[in-house]
Amino acid sequence: MKNANKEACHCKNVTYAKIQAAIRQGAKTPEEVQKRTGYGTGCGQCREFIQYLIQDILREQES
Ligand code: FES
Repeated sequence: MKNANKEACHCKNVTYAKIQAAIRQGAKTPEEVQKRTGYGTGCGQCREFIQYLIQDILREQES
């Protein structure tokens, strides 16, 4: 994945790669990814963006 080391959530230092890893380990919803990574539990500004990111990754996995 390009941008793997880019941070998606700055408050909690959650990179794109960490989100992808959480999904690979079985997280199927944004809530489950949040439980595993802690994203979005600071300022909350990243939440909407990361939800789209997660949907994209899930969609890519299906195809
Ligand atoms: S950037 Fe994710 S909670 Fe602030």
